[in-house]
Amino acid sequence: MNNFKYKNPTKILFGKGEIQNLSKEIPANAKILMLYGGGSIKRNGIYEQVTEALKGYKIVEFGGIPANPEYEILLQAIDIIKKEQLDYILAVGGGSVIDGAKFISAGVKYEGKEPWDLLAKREPIQDALPMATVLTLPATGSEMNSGAVVSRRATKEKLAFGSPLLYPQVSVLDPGVVASLPKRQLANGIVDAFMHTMEQYMTYPAGGYLQDRFAEGILQTLKAVAAKVLENPQDYEAASNFMWSCTMALNGLIAQGVPTDWGVHAIGHELTALFGIDHAQTLSIVAPAYYQHCFEHKKEKLAQYAERVWGVNKGTTEEKARKGIAQTEAFFQSLGIATKLSAYTDNYEGVAEKVAQRFANRGWLGLGEHRNITPDDVITILKNTYKK
Ligand code: NZQ
Ligand code: ZN
Repeated sequence: MNNFKYKNPTKILFGKGEIQNLSKEIPANAKILMLYGGGSIKRNGIYEQVTEALKGYKIVEFGGIPANPEYEILLQAIDIIKKEQLDYILAVGGGSVIDGAKFISAGVKYEGKEPWDLLAKREPIQDALPMATVLTLPATGSEMNSGAVVSRRATKEKLAFGSPLLYPQVSVLDPGVVASLPKRQLANGIVDAFMHTMEQYMTYPAGGYLQDRFAEGILQTLKAVAAKVLENPQDYEAASNFMWSCTMALNGLIAQGVPTDWGVHAIGHELTALFGIDHAQTLSIVAPAYYQHCFEHKKEKLAQYAERVWGVNKGTTEEKARKGIAQTEAFFQSLGIATKLSAYTDNYEGVAEKVAQRFANRGWLGLGEHRNITPDDVITILKNTYKK
């Protein structure tokens, strides 16, 4: 096992009715920017619960953060914080609103010329406003991690950044919010958390027995609750297991001491940037082709995964590993998610080369746990996603 230092400072309030305890966590004199998305919180009662819980606080609202939070809109929120002299951010939403909040919290303190440089040039984050979240969509883990992904429509870019200063101080996880989620978002959440786990697990056997079991436990739990959550999002037991699995999949714990490979996400983000395809849908498109391409490096772990998560007990290492990939793709399809690019766009010709060129321009010359997946490999992988 590799050495590691691990600290996750986010306090979690988990369960029914926990929103009402927000005022015990946010300083009474905080001047809050409350961020939300396109309005789902006004239709499902979460808005009332939050504003009721925070009666007496100075709150300025900022709605309209779109899915894949948009840079230009986040800049407007930064202006409001400066103008109104606010000092605390509350994100009420899914990954997009929470990621947007993280960017705003760093951006408002950024002293350089263009806050986009926090992403494009990876300028270091020196300071950030404190923030809390009320999670409304289990998926990204952003509620308990220090990363964020921001999009810029004008240049069709989507870039990630992070800093230990960006952990939310507190996050409320009330599984009751799952009840109002449409099937598409439920399926997306299951796939996103599944793939977060895979990206920190699907490398090679590295002697992290407990990390492997944690990861397999999350994968098995997601598999066990997926159909229940989709059929009946009001099933509280299924919703709470779904929600906690999503948070645990990307709060840093399962990656400690073991190699990781975020290649599927890196390629998937480009498909969102170029075509606007939902984040989890891009992962479903890329993952099967990626694992086929990296088969030789990953076959031992793929076989372990097939055995422990899908119960594939017969066959050689190679046969089990291939079944593991097939089971993964079938699982995504069983949730109603198409796994080929042609299901989402007709304009896929040339995309492989375009994405590879972007990676080369950014100096991303070696993805994968061995840093050996080159832009040319990315071309092959993406071409295999086009159609059956
Ligand atoms: O905007 P509203 O009206 O709120 O509707 C949202 C949105 O349309 C809706 N929704 C959310 N909660 C709801 C609800 N509808 C009904 N009832 C509720 N309780 O769902 C839609 C999607 O929301 P969004 O926040 O975009 O989804 P998600 O949580 O999947 O976040 C996706 C973003 O997170 C990034 C992705 O790239 C993408 O930009 N990621 C962030 C990560 C991180 N910070 O660690 C890691 C991930 O890999 C991912 O890249
Ligand atoms: Zn993801």
